[in-house]
Amino acid sequence: MNQQAEPFLKEVQDLDVFTQVHVSRPHESAHLHVSGRATYTDDIPEVAGTLHAALGLSAKAHAKLVSISLDKVRATPGVVAVFTADDIPGANDVGPIVHGDDPILADGVVQYVGQPIFIVVASSHEAARLGARRAEVVYEELPAVLTAQQARAANQYVLPPMKIARGEPGAKIARAVHREAGEMVLGGQEQFYLEGQISYAVPKDDDGMHVYCSTQHPTEMQHLVAHTLGVASHNVLIECRRMGGGFGGKESQSGLFACCAALAAWKLLRPVKLRPDRDDDMMVTGKRHDFHYTYEVGYDDAGTIEGVAVDMTSRCGFSADLSGPVMTRALCHFDNAYWLSDVSIDGFCGKTNTQSNTAFRGFGGPQGAFAIEYIIDNVARSVGMDSLDVRRRNLYGKTERNQTPYGQVVEDNVIHELIDELEATSDYRARRKQIDEFNANNEILKKGLALTPVKFGIAFNVTHFNQAGALVHIYTDGSVLVNHGGTEMGQGLNTKVAQVVAHELGVGLNRIRVSATDTSKVANTSATAASTGSDLNGKAAQDAARQLRERLAAFAAEKFGDGRVNARDVRFAHDRVSVGEALVPFGEVVAKAYLARVQLWSDGFYATPKLYWDQSKLQGRPFYYYSYGAAVSEVVIDTLTGEMRVLRADALHDVGASLNPALDVGQVEGAFIQGMGWLTTEELWWNEGGKLMTHAPSTYKIPTVNDVPPVFNVKLFKNRNVEDSIHRSKATGEPPLLLPFSVFFAVRDAVSAVGGHKVNPPLNAPATSEEILKAVGAVRSASADVAVAAARV
Ligand code: MTE
Ligand code: MOS
Repeated sequence: MNQQAEPFLKEVQDLDVFTQVHVSRPHESAHLHVSGRATYTDDIPEVAGTLHAALGLSAKAHAKLVSISLDKVRATPGVVAVFTADDIPGANDVGPIVHGDDPILADGVVQYVGQPIFIVVASSHEAARLGARRAEVVYEELPAVLTAQQARAANQYVLPPMKIARGEPGAKIARAVHREAGEMVLGGQEQFYLEGQISYAVPKDDDGMHVYCSTQHPTEMQHLVAHTLGVASHNVLIECRRMGGGFGGKESQSGLFACCAALAAWKLLRPVKLRPDRDDDMMVTGKRHDFHYTYEVGYDDAGTIEGVAVDMTSRCGFSADLSGPVMTRALCHFDNAYWLSDVSIDGFCGKTNTQSNTAFRGFGGPQGAFAIEYIIDNVARSVGMDSLDVRRRNLYGKTERNQTPYGQVVEDNVIHELIDELEATSDYRARRKQIDEFNANNEILKKGLALTPVKFGIAFNVTHFNQAGALVHIYTDGSVLVNHGGTEMGQGLNTKVAQVVAHELGVGLNRIRVSATDTSKVANTSATAASTGSDLNGKAAQDAARQLRERLAAFAAEKFGDGRVNARDVRFAHDRVSVGEALVPFGEVVAKAYLARVQLWSDGFYATPKLYWDQSKLQGRPFYYYSYGAAVSEVVIDTLTGEMRVLRADALHDVGASLNPALDVGQVEGAFIQGMGWLTTEELWWNEGGKLMTHAPSTYKIPTVNDVPPVFNVKLFKNRNVEDSIHRSKATGEPPLLLPFSVFFAVRDAVSAVGGHKVNPPLNAPATSEEILKAVGAVRSASADVAVAAARV
């Protein structure tokens, strides 16, 4: 890595031309990723005697288990053992919040196609898989509820309904000059981490269990495994060096795999690895919640919203999992970047006989914000204005019109200047004209354009999750080992934390090594989620490093400054420590400090300030600050085939004073493409029996490199967090997932061009070719009706 101090932002830092933050640095494992040497859980050399597990899955969406015959499974060559719910010594439950509704192995009844019923353990992965297919299960089928709407109709929920309301939305809507009501559907999304779920459990001395687990939440895994085995938390060690992606899918749902591997290892006293194949992974695990919405809005001639009411139902699957917090975040993001004076937001968590839906980048935030964007898009078309102008008209103010429906005041609003900049750099107005001309001259191809904003709240809604710990060790050779509670899933968290520590100690990044996340090092950690990884763990690591620097400064002042230098004036930069006139190599200071019996390791801790949240009233200050962004997308559709291409996308995103611009741009690009896939090609489809039919990349279409817009301009907005976050940066992980709303609304704009922008296209997400074609047809016939009606007048 380049250890030269780079030119840096003077206004941000002034440590004698030394900085390790606000500079682009390669991902700490980049050299390993590209050479195939990065160790993922499946690459860990296996311990002698390792066995392999596979899961036997339910073939029915909802049924009583009348009998299970496992004789043929046991007779499969290579099979060593089979375990069912009866073999679990502790609790048969992996529910992260609600306990008791989320069995590890089905007991008496199955609740979705793909639900694990038993574990097969064999000498090889193939033998286990083969054995798992041979069970003879007799089911007695029960009625199944599959969709959010069906759950709503049946009043079947995993949690009580939630509501946030302010003012008099009903009266305001009734009194408004214009009113509109409607409904729409937003699809779910498979996380499609490249490395699938995996756990490798190795039994240890005296009822110990060491589980290598691909997880965003080692502490939760520790608790779940301990409960499953009926042992104390201190018996269980969870370790995760890195994930090949998590995207929320390994926040709670790595638990099932960790518990099954640990259970088998516990029973057999042998190491057991459980790595489901991709189709099993997709059949078993939950996805992003799909949502069904109905809404009513009242607005004036200029598109100003006077009152709005939305009713959202999510498809949660058979258990609560994280559906409650996901719905809370959806409710808290319905406002997106808009001031809604009179508003009512209802959320219903539909219980269905499908996979238990879970976290996925944005955690309900995108589902909440999508609804208001859809409504505004309708309003704009109805009043015949450019949707950008209607969006602008409704944005939060800077000092007034700035309180969210959940009570938090928006104090750091930069959306106005951000949109101004993007509108100019993307040439929005001129392109709008060109597109109108193109559409006037083309019958079959239609283009569309849209600019959408993002405001995203940063922090866990649940206040106590907003804490983190870290350990920093300086060894006597001057090398530094950092351990923190966060997990690395490709997002670059370890790199950012290493930068923070290097910055604090004034050393090169080559001195810093970040070790695997390990529950025996930093205890009681929160999930690496809600985009808070670097905010929390960066601060905790900074706290630890700062204590070490202060200790070393006190020592150096005495040792090298002849008592004439104040510890506060000792400087750490460029791997040297300057003490008055003396300039001592960092390694020498460390070595001498050791001899002088100075403690060379430290812990660090951080708890995010200012947060409070009343979950019963859904009011408070759940977020420390907001991240902002906006994007403009231009698309073209073929009205004969429904084919769609994104021609150009421009994104401008606020990450405060970026810790590492290269990593942050990577996060924005990745989130944009991932969100674009969600809203365009990624369609989850269950058959009438409740079986997910799109359970492999052959039928479930994630974007490829060919889908990246040929013109793709991603820029970071020049900003600085008004709150005292780590080096005034902002979280980057999730907020940019909402930027490709601009793709969806550009598609909708293109579809509406078919009818001269007179009709609101009934386009649902994902806007697949099929969906686009359907919407084009609907707009055509609606436009014909409009024309007929006009002719009659
Ligand atoms: N980036 C990569 N490469 N892989 C991932 O799995 N997960 C996203 C985001 N970016 C993810 C990612 C999600 S869902 C979250 S919450 C954040 O990263 C978590 O990491 P952070 O808090 O360190 O940003
Ligand atoms: Mo991210 S959905 O909070 O793991």
